[in-house]
Order: sequence, then structure tokens, then C-alpha cells
Amino acid sequence: MAAATGASPVVDRTRDPGSAEASITVRPPARLRGRPALPGDKSISHRSLLLALLAEGESRISAAGDGEDVRSTAAIIAALGARAERTATAGGRVDYLVVSPGGDALTEPDAVLDCGNAGTTARLVAGLLAGRPLFAILDGDASLRGRPMARVAEPLRAMGAEVAGRRAGTLLPLAITGRARLVPLDHRTAVPSAQVKSAILLAALAADGTTTVTEAVATRDHTERMLRARGVAVREDTGAGGEHAIALDGPATVAAVDETVPADPSGAAFWLVAGSIHPDAELRLDGVSTNPTRRAVIDLLRRMGADIEEQPLAAPGGADGEPLADLVVRSAPLRAIDLSPADVAAAIDEIPVLCLAAAAATGTTRIRGAGELRHKESDRIAGIADGLAALGARVRVDGDDIEITGGTRLRGAVTDTHDDHRLAMTFAVAGLIAEGETIVRRPASAAISYPGFFAQLEGVRA
Ligand code: S3P
Repeated sequence: MAAATGASPVVDRTRDPGSAEASITVRPPARLRGRPALPGDKSISHRSLLLALLAEGESRISAAGDGEDVRSTAAIIAALGARAERTATAGGRVDYLVVSPGGDALTEPDAVLDCGNAGTTARLVAGLLAGRPLFAILDGDASLRGRPMARVAEPLRAMGAEVAGRRAGTLLPLAITGRARLVPLDHRTAVPSAQVKSAILLAALAADGTTTVTEAVATRDHTERMLRARGVAVREDTGAGGEHAIALDGPATVAAVDETVPADPSGAAFWLVAGSIHPDAELRLDGVSTNPTRRAVIDLLRRMGADIEEQPLAAPGGADGEPLADLVVRSAPLRAIDLSPADVAAAIDEIPVLCLAAAAATGTTRIRGAGELRHKESDRIAGIADGLAALGARVRVDGDDIEITGGTRLRGAVTDTHDDHRLAMTFAVAGLIAEGETIVRRPASAAISYPGFFAQLEGVRA
């Protein structure tokens, strides 16, 4: 096996000879040890900033994610009338002081609101704006302009907002004319989506009456927890078949709170897989959210045989009581499992790196009902299948199902990230175990959710 030794770097920021694109080259280190500094949770960071905009007065947000997506949201709340001051940065995290006139006194933005690459920003801001009497245009990068927006535009129109956009109002740029009072809605989401649920709940703050969102399986519940922590009554009910309903009585105002953002379990996932599949690894991950709606990656890896120790922290994190734990992952032989559509929904952002885990496991892993992955920052089914196949894994895609047969040693190859942060980090982790050199082409998108990831990858080389 071709383990790098001595001074040979794990990560090289070279240009790959076959292409003019920037790339990094990853070589397998003999051992992995360390304590990577995780980013603040991206989902919670977005919501913390948006709820601080709606709350009159001062909100202090500590240890937020400092990736490009969260920066897009910070710039948008400033364009809508809040002061969002970066008061400290450390270890790839940032503290904000947000001073806002409150949701009833927002400023109409004088320019297009740029959501960058962030689907969460686009959809949650659309929901927030629906119930405010302003005109605003939301736009984003080429990837975001291709992502489906009808899923938020339609319910927001049904609540009384005007939402126009490209392709009959289904794609960015979206032009939104909000109303100070909306009509409450009873909505069933077509696909499990925390972004759609959250957009409707943010609009429901301005509705006259009870809005209900029903989802086939429960998605991440940060918006519900964070609204409650800010004085808004949110009711939840789970039916016998797992169907989940959330109700909010509008109109409601959001109080200003101070909050500390936990470490991002979706960022932790790369280290959980790296530590599991590398033959000599022990990595510690501090203060990770183990919220039941976010921890699926831990439980799925354990089902595959991973050795993940979980040390729960006594005090829950943040104003909204997220459960937290320190995690320790050690090398372990992994075996194949079957993932149901509900598993896919629960681990939606971790499926790419779980596919890598499957490529390193014995047996055939079957992932059913992964269609939503085609609507992320890139078509992640195609991207992960191509990248893993280039590395020598046996991958079969049948519609929205993926089959990965592990057991053969991966070999270094050129992988294409399609400018998708989760693919960039997945292929870099693959390079930790693949024989020879793995070239990750166009890796810069890692900074969307995890600035400093590649430097940390170099740092965990023992
Ligand atoms: C998110 C919800 C998920 C997830 C995304 C963040 C959120 O998207 O993929 O990275 O913060 O609500 P969907 O709601 O589209 O599934």
C-alpha cells in the first residue's frame, strides 16, 4: 500500500497537468490523528441571522459558520436594514452582533439580493420576505439558478405574496412583492424539505391564523426549535406512519436572543468517514450537534460497523437546546447496508460521503430513493457515481437508486467536483485511502460550508 511518509504533503495545491483548472492532489498518509476544528452548523447559522433580522434589538451569535453560504445570508440581512457586525473570528468561525429595527421595519433593498450558492438562503429569505410589504429580487450563482424554486414560490403565492420568476416563476431570479398580512396555509410538502418547511413557517409569522406544514418524514427541526426559543409557539405532532405536522399561530413576533452555534454534523461527517475507512486513524470532534434530525450519519455509519464513541455534553448548546456531544472515531472495517428513502432524507447532505464509505466497505450498499440529490448544488448522484467510478469503485445508478460494491482498493485518479462543496470534500477524503495520487479538480467550493478544510486535512496527518 502506498502510504506517504516523512515530509511528503498529503495535500498539494498544484495545478493538475491535464487541465488549466485549479486542483489539489491528495496522497494517503500512514496515520490520521487529531482534532479538526469544525465549522459552525450552516443550517443554524443561516437561521440565527435571519431570525436576528426579524427580532427588534440586539442579537449576539457566537461561533457561526464562516463559509460563503452563511456570508451570503449575512450580506442579505444587512441589505434589509440590520447592522451585522463581525465581532470576532477564530478557527473558521465568526461571532456576529446583529442590531435590527425588527421585522415590521425592514428596508426595501435597493439592489438584487445575491444568495450566491446557497439554497437555504434563497428559500428561507423568500419565505421571510413574503410577509413583509417590500419588493425584492433574489438571485444566485449558476448552480442556484438551476435549482427548483416552485416548491417555495407556490405555497408563498397561496399565502398572498406575489412571486414572479424565470420559467413561469419556478427559477431564480425571483421577484417578490410581500404583504404585511398573509393568509394562513395548510401545506403538505411534496418532498421532505426543511427549507420549504422553514420558508412557510417564516411566512406564517405574518399570517392571520394557524399555518400547518405536514411532511411525510420529519426533516431537520432547527427553525421550530429556534422560533420557540424566541417566544413563538410552534406545535408538532407525529402521526402513526411517521407523518409529521408543524403548526404556528400568526401573527407572531420574534424576540432577540443570544445564541452559540454548535459544530456542524455535516462537516463532521467527512472526518467520521475518513477516520472509519483509513486503516490507522483516531480523530476527535468537539461539540457536534447530535440533534435527532441531524445525527443519521452517525447511526448509519455505526450500522456499517464504524467505531464512533459519543460523549454527550451536559449542557445543551444555544438558546434552542441542541443536544451536543464530543465524538471520537477510530478505524474499523465497514460492511454494506441498505438505505431507505427515509434514511436518504435524514442524511441528505451526508449521502455523498456515505457513498465513499460504501466504496470502502465489504459488500453491496443499496441506496433507494435518492432523487433529491439531483437538485442539490450539483447533480450529486451523477457526480458521486462518476468520481467513485474513476477511483475504481463499482457503482451502478438505476434511476434514483444507487448501488455501490466495495471491497476493492481505490486507486488515485482525477475527480471532478462540479464546483460542489460536498463532492470536493468527499473526493479529498477518498484520496486519504486511495493508492497513489488523487487529483480533486476545482476544489475551491469547499469554502461554501467548510473554510480551511484542506489545511485541516494536511493537519491530521500524524
Ligand atoms: C437545509 C435543508 C436541506 C439540506 C441543506 C440545508 C436547511 O435541504 O440539504 O443543505 O438548512 O434547511 P432541503 O430542504 O432542500 O432538503
